[in-house]
Amino acid sequence: MNRWPASLVWAGLFVWTMSGCGRSGQDSGPLAAERPTDRAQVYQIGMSQCNLGEPWRVQMNADIKAAAEKNDRISVQFKDAQNDTLKQRAHVEEFISAGVDLIIISPKEAQPLTEPVAKAIAAGIPVIVLDRAVLGDAYTCFIGADNRKIGRAAGAWIKKRLNGKGKVVELKGLMTSTPGQDRHAGFRQAIEGSGITVVFTTDMQWLEPNARKEMESALARIDAIDAVYAHNDPGAHGAYLAARAAGRDREMIFVGIDALPQEGIAYVAQGILDATFQYPTGGREAIETAWKILRGQQVPKRITLGSRVFTKANVAAGGEPIE
Ligand code: FRU
Repeated sequence: MNRWPASLVWAGLFVWTMSGCGRSGQDSGPLAAERPTDRAQVYQIGMSQCNLGEPWRVQMNADIKAAAEKNDRISVQFKDAQNDTLKQRAHVEEFISAGVDLIIISPKEAQPLTEPVAKAIAAGIPVIVLDRAVLGDAYTCFIGADNRKIGRAAGAWIKKRLNGKGKVVELKGLMTSTPGQDRHAGFRQAIEGSGITVVFTTDMQWLEPNARKEMESALARIDAIDAVYAHNDPGAHGAYLAARAAGRDREMIFVGIDALPQEGIAYVAQGILDATFQYPTGGREAIETAWKILRGQQVPKRITLGSRVFTKANVAAGGEPIE
């Protein structure tokens, strides 16, 4: 009787062949420096996404997948925490127990995800933190755009557009996440000392239905609104829908952040939003950086991505970089 199941025999033969034992002769050419066993290894990357409810996050995962598919030595396992912080903490723990080679995380909230990320680092697993930050410095590399700068640029743009005076509704992103905090701080800095006043502000937690509901309250309370500054495009769109339903969308301008081609940029082209500021997903950069880390190369602690502004005037030309 055969003591070895066929699958094991094939697996053994595969490993033997891939480890170079089935070959003879010297390696040559550009790969000569790599050991054959090295060439056979496929690195396992665990990607912890905080939610896939918004188009921007679906795009981030697609960007990661597209970049990873170009490298046959990288395999990415995606987990979606469905906007649940506890679930996301558990996902990081699962990746640690599974012994993945590297973790990429886009955390829902800064504070609660700090500990599991630090645990991964303590276990010797490098961690790339993408878009939303954690606290402290127990991570390998942070990749994201400068949200404070984007908030400042949005504030400066609104100030200029309103000739330095007017009433603004600010619909904030989740304030326990760093982009919400920074987009708020940058905006306030830009309008400080001007005639721009924030007449209504609330945390819509990045969600379009929340933004729409909050905007209904703002419209009911305030009879003249000049601008809506929402921390993301779904928020700006929700506010626009509320204003349109109230027959007041022409009274004010709408400004958002993200600038996905199929979302914010399309809204600008359609005249729904007046401006959107690009927030790149960093998916491609995360895989490129992961590859460097896995190959033992040094990477910077922080990689800051650029941003562009899209308005009716420049959308056809692809927007303009922000200063
Ligand atoms: C998606 C999102 C984006 C926003 C980013 C901030 O969840 O809300 O719209 O730019 O997260 O982290």
